[in-house]
Amino acid sequence: MPKLIVTDRSGKAHELDGEAGLSVMEIIRDAGMDELLALCGGSCSCATCHVHVAPDWLPVTGTASGDEDDLLDSSDNRVASSRLSCQIAFTDAMDGLEVAIAPED
Ligand code: FES
Repeated sequence: MPKLIVTDRSGKAHELDGEAGLSVMEIIRDAGMDELLALCGGSCSCATCHVHVAPDWLPVTGTASGDEDDLLDSSDNRVASSRLSCQIAFTDAMDGLEVAIAPED
């Protein structure tokens, strides 16, 4: 099963089982990591699922655009590799993808 590596706000890395077809947010939430609030449930309207993608993975995940980009602009913790994890559809090609949960705004 492809792996998703998630660093929590304390700096601890967690290796999660990824599943193609789920969003990165859903994989993190289903693993019980409650730091990622994901308050809107994945409809790209809350920005509480903000993660920092490891820069090497950006060519695979792509960058934010449209509504996602606008929402990220409201975060004080935006970086060049910021994404809303509900907007990243996990695929088998993302085996080993590394993301860090962004600091709370
Ligand atoms: S869960 Fe609300 S924007 Fe991603």
